[in-house]
Amino acid sequence: MTDRLNIGVLVSGSGSNLQAIMDGCTNDTIPGRVTVVVSNKDGVFALERARNAGLPAVVINHDRYGGREYFEKALAEVLEQHGVQLICLAGFMRILSPWFIRYFSGRILNIHPALLPAFPGLHVQKRALEMGVRFSGATVHFVDDGVDTGPIVIQAVVPILPDDDVDTLSARILVQEHRIYPLAVRWFAQKRLRLVNGKVQLDAGLEHEREMTLAADKAWIHPPAS
Ligand code: GRF
Repeated sequence: MTDRLNIGVLVSGSGSNLQAIMDGCTNDTIPGRVTVVVSNKDGVFALERARNAGLPAVVINHDRYGGREYFEKALAEVLEQHGVQLICLAGFMRILSPWFIRYFSGRILNIHPALLPAFPGLHVQKRALEMGVRFSGATVHFVDDGVDTGPIVIQAVVPILPDDDVDTLSARILVQEHRIYPLAVRWFAQKRLRLVNGKVQLDAGLEHEREMTLAADKAWIHPPAS
């Protein structure tokens, strides 16, 4: 008997956030273990990362099912078979139905490469550059019925620099994603996340944890005054 949290990670692409979560489990940042990785696409690098770590890597290709309902039933079945207690969406490019979200109610996290509620949806780095905003960042949130609308757990802020393009901005955001996603999962596993009036409250942690987080009392002002 172990009290480590069983985590299922859903992916569709390169899986760098999956890697951060697997590493977090290995180095004990996260008191959990990834029990299954599921991709809706064959041949993605995330599957290789899972196999390299010796984890079950399952492909459930949405194209091979006669509708979302059947795809999601298959997905839920695999997650149940692996005893999943928390689902982490990590670059998973399918919208989940209200049925699926209710089935795993309060147990699905997502990472989004923008400061929600600004820039939900797709192509968010490009849209942030087009809008000329000075900051962007990353958000980990619980998943609800909307697109990128659920209660926010943690955010990290990065500046947008004058010479940025989609690639440089995405890379800067991704560094922070790999930092905050394992933290959010850690807190979930420690049962320290509480929903109060639709917002996430974090129960107090240990003093040394402050070093792992961004300084909550600091504001980021950008560009700096010269
Ligand atoms: C990340 O930017 C994540 O925020 C978004 O999709 C990207 C996935 O990257 N949802 P990876 O597959 O984790 O490398």
